[in-house]
This record gives sequence, C-alpha cells and structure tokens, in this order.
Amino acid sequence: TDAELDARIRAAKKTLGDRAVILGHFYQRDEVIQYADFVGDSFQLANAALTKPDAEAIIFCGVHFMAETADILSTPEQAVILPNLAAGCSMADMADEDSVEECWEQLEEIFGTDTDAQGRVPVIPVTYMNSSAALKAFCGRNGGIVCTSSNAKVVLEWAFERGQRVLFFPDQHLGRNTAKALGVPLEQMPMWNPRKELGGNDEQTLLDSRVILWHGFCSVHKRFNVGQIEKARLDFPGVNVIVHPECPMEVVDAADSAGSTDFIKKAIAAATEPTTFAIGTEINMVNRLAAENPQHTIFCLDPVICPCSTMYRIHPGYLAWVLEELVEGRIVNRITVDDTVQDNAKIALERMLAAKP
Ligand code: 13P
Ligand code: SF4
Repeated sequence: TDAELDARIRAAKKTLGDRAVILGHFYQRDEVIQYADFVGDSFQLANAALTKPDAEAIIFCGVHFMAETADILSTPEQAVILPNLAAGCSMADMADEDSVEECWEQLEEIFGTDTDAQGRVPVIPVTYMNSSAALKAFCGRNGGIVCTSSNAKVVLEWAFERGQRVLFFPDQHLGRNTAKALGVPLEQMPMWNPRKELGGNDEQTLLDSRVILWHGFCSVHKRFNVGQIEKARLDFPGVNVIVHPECPMEVVDAADSAGSTDFIKKAIAAATEPTTFAIGTEINMVNRLAAENPQHTIFCLDPVICPCSTMYRIHPGYLAWVLEELVEGRIVNRITVDDTVQDNAKIALERMLAAKP
C-alpha cells in the first residue's frame, strides 16, 4: 500500500542519512517530490550534483540525461542512481551521435575550417542539456557548449562571440525562440535537412544562416497552441500567460512571458496581488504551483492532462527499492558515463557553468 511504501522510504532514508541525497526535477509527481532533499530545474539540479561531494549516492528522480550529467559533475566515487532506467526523454533521443557527426561533416565541407576577420570559427555546436552525454562530449571536442532553458540566451551569446553561426540541437523550439529573442531573423534559422537527394538544405541557405536548428521537440510542450492562449484570455481577462521555451514559437510569441521551470516558479512568487496564471508546461509542476499558491488562480493551458510520461516512470516503489538496496550496501541502477565521454562532456558543461552574463 501507499502507507507501507511511505514507511519503507522514510526508514531507508533515515538509515542512510547524509550518505544518500535525493534530487527531484519539478516535473516529478508529488508522491516522489515529497522525499526529495533538493527540487529544481535541470540547471539547478546539475549544480546540486556538483555541490554534494560528501554523499556516497545521488538518487536522481528525473530522467536519464539528467542522471548522466550528475555522474559527469559528481566525484568519481559517488554513485548516481536512476530509480527506473526506463525514464528517458523522447526529445533527447531525437539527436543521436551518428546523425550529428554526419551533419557536422557535411557542414565542414560547406564552411571549411577558416576563421573570419573577428577570429570566429564557422560554426559552434550548442546542445540543450536534454541530450545524451555523447552529444555533450561532441560539443566539448568541437569548441561547443551546453545550455539549459534558464541560460540559453547567455549561452547563445557566448557562442556568437566565438562562431559565425551555431548548430543547435536537439530542441528546435528552444533554439528558435532563443535566437529570435536575440534578434536573429527567421530566414537565418534553417532546420537541418541532410537528405540532399530529397531536397535538403541548399548551400547558400546554410552559408547565410546564423543558427542551424535540429528537428527535435518535446512531446509534452508541443501540445500547447495559440488557441488555448486565446481562450484563456477570453475566459479570464487580465490572465498572465507564462510558457516554457520548449513550446512552439507562436505560443511563446502569444504568451506574456516564457522561461524555464524555475523562471515560471519565480514569476508566480513575485506576484504581490492575487493573479490568474495560465501556464504552458508539464502538469505535475502546474498542479504543485497551484497548491502552493492558493492566493492565485493557476491552471495549465492544456485542458487534457499532459504529464511527461517518462518522468512519470519514477514510481515511489522504485525509489523504495533503490534506497533499500543501498542500505544493504548494494548499488542498483547506477548511471555511469564512459571516462572519455565524461572528460569531453565536462568541458562543454564547464563552459556553460562559466558563461555568466
Ligand atoms: P528546465 O528544468 O530546464 O526548465 O527543463 C524542462 C525540461 O524539459 C526538463 O526535461
Ligand atoms: Fe523530455 Fe519533454 Fe519530458 Fe522534458 S518534459 S524530459 S523534454 S519529454
């Protein structure tokens, strides 16, 4: 029963004490979040992994790419545990290493390797945190960097200082929304199309580009549309619409503001008067914000329940299991990133951590 599970998790947590730290992403359900020692967005969770060197184990209640990042940033002795190994991310899966390498080769053929008068290389690869460690390593090896939704602007600026253009993957929407906010015209943001024989990108389009977008997207955030925002504005005059930048461009343009999960949380916390908020992000987070802020009216723009189905795979039962195994001295579901991948990925992650505005 739920009560039994709760007692098991609490008992194991108590026995382990500071030996284990539980991290939870905002999109986790409350049944899991209640046990987290730290809750945050993906950037904050990466930082949390970096700053808990004393814990033997980091139990990551999030998805696979986040646990990989925690393994890269934590000490070699620390074990990072993903309670359910099936908790992946469909967006991260949309950019595989081979396809990105192939794209890179084709781009190199077109652009060459010469720097321009300002010393900028032809193209800088930028990967969203929501990608495999192998792609972070690719960026580390090729002068590139990682970004999250909370620092994408700063990171793109970093990249534009060093490169004539950017190859941005996997999320086309975060790439497009961020570049647009920096003033890049849409016609200078082609989507990468490698299938030359099927009418792929022509060379001039790529030569004129500022940001080349990968075709990835988040299946949760692509559900949001402008009609939902129009309806919210009709039903609730004065409503404040805040969406995540993984939403399509038209949705971000129609909203009052857009930002990472932590941005959304802080924007609500900053409202001093009772306000109605319509939010475009994952439902577990929106429901939690509504419960935590009873002075406001907070609802999700999508009337159909929209959880992140892979985050949802972290069931409390798995949490109980990994904790009890730890109590017995066994590490299960450990996420380990290969040493070479780790070294290169760390370069790209450290560039991100250093790229402050
Ligand atoms: P942030 O936590 O960076 O806002 O990202 C949202 C997300 O999709 C995590 O998978
Ligand atoms: Fe991936 Fe979207 Fe889920 Fe985030 S919300 S983990 S991007 S599928």
